[in-house]
Amino acid sequence: MVPVAEVRTAHTADLDAAALAAARALLFDVFDDMTDQDWEHALGGMHALAWEGAELVGHASLIQRRLLYGGRALRTGYVEAVAVRADRRGRGHGAAMMDALERVLRGAYELGALGATDEAAAFYAARGWQLWRGPSSALTPAGKRRTEEDDGCIYVLPVTVSLDLSSELTCDWRDGDPW
Ligand SMILES: CC(C)(COP(=O)(O)OP(=O)(O)OC[C@H]1O[C@@H](n2cnc3c(N)ncnc32)[C@H](O)[C@@H]1OP(=O)(O)O)[C@@H](O)C(=O)NCCC(=O)NCCS
Repeated sequence: MVPVAEVRTAHTADLDAAALAAARALLFDVFDDMTDQDWEHALGGMHALAWEGAELVGHASLIQRRLLYGGRALRTGYVEAVAVRADRRGRGHGAAMMDALERVLRGAYELGALGATDEAAAFYAARGWQLWRGPSSALTPAGKRRTEEDDGCIYVLPVTVSLDLSSELTCDWRDGDPW
């Protein structure tokens, strides 16, 4: 019998050590190239956790960033660390976690953004996320730097702004992968 699945949202501050450890372990299991910096990028905002009983089978989070666009620093809900355990995919957990985070996004931010894996790009596109076609860059401590390696992987979900997807988009700075 498949246990009933449930998606719960909570801020990082309201997750106990066991839930955070389970989320971190799940992400290291799903992503071969997962790093501690990637994990750190997933903290400090809202998490959506998919539980089958006491077992964590999915994780996603939404953190605040600033994306520079057309001379403005847009308040952005940035989606991080989306993963469903390999043996639990195709059961609606990914969609349920994104539903929960997109609700927060629509109520609190000017736009949503994320850096998609090749594998998941179609998953986001089917939900209405739009591929950023213009050049990407990051505002580093040494000034603005192009991030060519991330071109073609960035998706946005405009909430209160209208965007020209072929112009430049610049993210705020952080250690590790900028996007
Ligand atoms: C992407 C991922 C989170 C999807 O989770 P999931 O629980 O399998 O997705 P769901 O069962 O909720 O699928 C929802 C819908 O998206 C579709 N879908 C799921 N994964 C898809 C994919 N990789 N590409 C295209 N469509 C996808 C499903 O067919 C389903 O469509 P339907 O509503 O028409 O039936 C999961 O495949 C995963 O963890 N992948 C590996 C990690 C990864 O790449 N994460 C993304 C990081 S940016």
